[in-house]
Amino acid sequence: MPAWHAVEEGYRELVERFGYQEIRTPLLEPIELFVRGIGDSTDIVEKEMYAFEDKGGDHLALRPEGTASAIRAYLQHGFQVESPQCKWYYLGPMFRRERPAKGRYRQFYQAGAELIGVAAPAADAEIIDMAVQFIESLGIGPVRVLLNSLGGEQTRPLYRKALVEHYSKHEQKLCEDCSRRLERNPLRILDCKVEGCRALSVDAPSVHDYLGEDDREHFDEVRRLLDKGGTPHQVEPTMVRGLDYYTRTIFEVQAESSALGAQTSVLGGGRYDNLVKQLGGRATPSIGFSFGIERLIMVMPESTHKEQVPLVFVAGVGKQSLDRALDIARTLRRQGRRVEVAHTGASLRSQLKKADKLGAAFAVIAGEEEAKRGGATLRNMTDGQQIEVRVDELSARLEELR
Ligand code: HAM
Repeated sequence: MPAWHAVEEGYRELVERFGYQEIRTPLLEPIELFVRGIGDSTDIVEKEMYAFEDKGGDHLALRPEGTASAIRAYLQHGFQVESPQCKWYYLGPMFRRERPAKGRYRQFYQAGAELIGVAAPAADAEIIDMAVQFIESLGIGPVRVLLNSLGGEQTRPLYRKALVEHYSKHEQKLCEDCSRRLERNPLRILDCKVEGCRALSVDAPSVHDYLGEDDREHFDEVRRLLDKGGTPHQVEPTMVRGLDYYTRTIFEVQAESSALGAQTSVLGGGRYDNLVKQLGGRATPSIGFSFGIERLIMVMPESTHKEQVPLVFVAGVGKQSLDRALDIARTLRRQGRRVEVAHTGASLRSQLKKADKLGAAFAVIAGEEEAKRGGATLRNMTDGQQIEVRVDELSARLEELR
């Protein structure tokens, strides 16, 4: 949990500095949203969604990701009209029926950010920089930032044609899924993990030979801005990513660690300039990313885990002493300290043992003798040293000793 809290709190703190606001969307959405948004020939939609018909006959799915839901909310609640530019972030569970493996779960937690309504390359560079800054802030390293462009309307029909021509020559070697994809969505073949298809993809045409002028300029400008800002990245010309809504810039952050097994991708994102239109709105260029919280935790060093506030244990032996212990605990908690207190006046020995087990940094012993002088014993649990302190000075003494 300290690791989860470090990721979640660190993320909120960072993205809020960049002007993002939190959005919370439901876990269930109409299945149609993901079919139309993510694409019906993607692995997520074809094989991995948890979908069912509810008692009213509606077809629903547990959300496999957050982008489609964010855009659904953007359109449904009139943002496109009222405030077309939105900067949103989210955290929460997502569901994909994948084969479970190290770093790959069927319920996993994602956090992400969406910058809706900005077309300029500066938006791409800023969001990539924000993602990389976040990963670095967790002490994760070394990482690789992979970048590619899938082009837009100028590029895609030409590139699609080139891919169909290439794979058609070896159609009989394609897996069953990819044979189906050949006409419907040949870009997906580049992402297929089956050995035979991978072999055919080695000399598949590169998107960079087909980028239209505007798409090329956009990509070059994103790279120039990343270089200028000192964000390390490398172009990965064969990367396509697994969702159909992407256009132009796509990116991924990969971490090398045996803890992750084959799942090296910790964060992924890209531009989706057609998604808003596809879901029924006006054309609204947008870009975003998300990351798996479990995967980050598996690769982040323990030193980044959220530091716990020191614990104070208040002990009292006998009824009167226990009453005072409860009073002292109440006061210290109201002053903002993290406090545990014994609820039964068990022997001092057993209470101190408990304090030790809980990892308390200090114990306050509300002894009868000290009480006569308005005091209590303050014990440093690390070295066992004890001093008598006036109760009204306890908080100040604890502060000095921190
Ligand atoms: P994605 O690449 O499908 O992108 O997922 C993003 C991240 O979620 C992955 O890099 C990985 O860390 C984590 N992840 C995905 N599947 C699993 C799993 N089964 N178990 C554990 N972690 C997993 C998206 O979801 C897009 N919505 C990103 C985006 C936002 N693009 C634009 N805006």
